Amino acid sequence: MIQFIDLKAQYARIQDRVEQAMLETMRGGQFIMGPAVAALERRLADYTGARHAITCASGTDALVMALMAKGVGRGDAVFTVPFTFMASAEAIATVGAIPIFVDIDPVTFNIDPVALERAVRALKAGDPTIHPLPRMDADELASLTPRGVIAVDLFGLPADYAAINAIAQQHDLFVIEDAAQSFGAKQGNSQAGALAEIACTSFFPAKPLGCYGDGGAIFCNDDELASVLRSIRVHGQGSHKYENVRLGLTGRLDTVQAAVLDVKLDIFDDEMEQRQRVAATYAAAIADHGLDVVAPTVPEGSRSAWAQYTLVAADGAARAALQQRLADRGIPTMIYYPRSLHVQQAFAPLGYRDGDFAVSEAMCERVFSLPMHPYLRDDDARSIIAAMAG
Ligand SMILES: Cc1ncc(COP(=O)(O)O)c(C=O)c1O
Repeated sequence: MIQFIDLKAQYARIQDRVEQAMLETMRGGQFIMGPAVAALERRLADYTGARHAITCASGTDALVMALMAKGVGRGDAVFTVPFTFMASAEAIATVGAIPIFVDIDPVTFNIDPVALERAVRALKAGDPTIHPLPRMDADELASLTPRGVIAVDLFGLPADYAAINAIAQQHDLFVIEDAAQSFGAKQGNSQAGALAEIACTSFFPAKPLGCYGDGGAIFCNDDELASVLRSIRVHGQGSHKYENVRLGLTGRLDTVQAAVLDVKLDIFDDEMEQRQRVAATYAAAIADHGLDVVAPTVPEGSRSAWAQYTLVAADGAARAALQQRLADRGIPTMIYYPRSLHVQQAFAPLGYRDGDFAVSEAMCERVFSLPMHPYLRDDDARSIIAAMAG
């Protein structure tokens, strides 16, 4: 039986080591900020090339903590995409700021830098004819301060950071890389996690590097920012436990999850290679069968972490037919994402409408994701594509 993501196959490979590591944590008794946490942070920093890795309780907390560390709050605006997991925009609203949505590029599924530049200009001019803006009180909109961009590396492919960082620099904005799906990806010689001023990742079990519960990490090079993030992680702690110098969270990664991740990092490079193999097998089979779908494109010089292998069907009916053919053979598929965030009820107060972000909306109708994990065999990948060909 083909799994969408096969965590059991991975577990079978690391069972002895991971159970030993968990047992040692139990016996050690340091469940909060035990030695495995600092050890993992050193390994994560080495892996990404970032100077600091600060682990935390989830990818969502990573984003919230990054925004808090940047002092983002009421009266601020942060640009992000509507075609992503809820957390990318939710974090902005959680700290009291306004998400300004920017449409995606139809090929990479990532923020369109040309649209980003227009959105920044539109907000600064208070002119929604330049780019769709929240339909909120005009005075409130005019008083918003553009602060930063959360660019998402969707499905594992890094966004176009050369363009995004340049626009941000020109307009004095910070950039947060939402690398929740892209840990292990590369752009040029840099790893995901080191492509912007701050990066946030998730260790949710289904992510390329996942733990056995919730977890996340924040990456940055700035010493001062790292120390603020470490303080926010523990209720704004100052120089000792009961000195609180700012507001914070209970944002720590459990020691037991750090111990699990330490074992999983040992096999991570191999797993990344296996994901490349599966993606290449899919791409070749799609071309062989001449399937009427758009396969993912990885720009020259980049490597996707292949959190998802996402196809674009001709339209909604074609997608439903392809998914049905696969379901008839017991092959699972998923739709990431069926609804664009700008039309989610949670963001209704922003007043966005259908039609504001055409690419995002079209992708919600047309995309679907195939099984993708390092343990998917080539013949299974080929049989999945053959099943779609009929
Ligand atoms: C793009 C993106 N951002 C943020 C998150 C949030 O991560 P977590 O589920 O660990 O809070 C996710 C995870 O699902 C995600 O896919």
